Amino acid sequence: MDAIDWESMWAPYDDETYQYVLAQVGADDVVVDIGAGDLRLARQLAQMVRRVYAVERNCDLVQRVLPLLEPYPNLVVINVDALVWQLPDDLTLAVLLMRHCTRDHFATYVKRLKQAGCRRLVTNARWKMGVEVIDLGHNRRYDPDRAGWYACHCGAIGFTAPEFASITAHSVNDIVDVVLCPDCILQAGIDYGEYRPCVA
Ligand SMILES: C[S@@+](CC[C@H](N)C(=O)[O-])C[C@H]1O[C@@H](n2cnc3c(N)ncnc32)[C@H](O)[C@@H]1O
Repeated sequence: MDAIDWESMWAPYDDETYQYVLAQVGADDVVVDIGAGDLRLARQLAQMVRRVYAVERNCDLVQRVLPLLEPYPNLVVINVDALVWQLPDDLTLAVLLMRHCTRDHFATYVKRLKQAGCRRLVTNARWKMGVEVIDLGHNRRYDPDRAGWYACHCGAIGFTAPEFASITAHSVNDIVDVVLCPDCILQAGIDYGEYRPCVA
């Protein structure tokens, strides 16, 4: 099986994961659930928010759950590839529970969500075993002089240790979310010597 086969596999997550997601939403939210599976989370979300777009490309899965949807008039189910679907412009929150999401696809989702004006993403795609809320609205860059973990909007995660002496208990626990990381710098062909963590 390759990465894309894994990404296409449906499996539900544990209740703790769903409770974490549900704790992030408010009554006015408009949510897109990307790779919504059998809609078990989307149905719970629909009871708590203004509208849910549940996007799932597995046709059999969607067909099976359609009869369960009558009590959820604010749940819109879209049977399509989420990587190419035109996102609506009223989104306030996105959910991407897809542990096997590839880095490329993660970066594509983030780019498209930003373009659609969505500013929050709840996902397990970057850390795989952990769920997090990502602020899609900031412009923070990677700082090579800071000791500690970073996680980038391209999907990369990493730990920087300029000097071992600079690693503290705080730097081991603290994660900084960035929009440009060493992988991005390499890919963009930016000369590392010329790189500055702050945008002037
Ligand atoms: C691990 S399951 C998680 C299902 C659901 N989010 C949950 O927590 O119960 C991942 C789901 O994402 C769907 N998926 C993967 N890539 C997709 C894409 N590009 N567009 C739509 N659905 C996708 C798969 O078909 C699968 O049902």
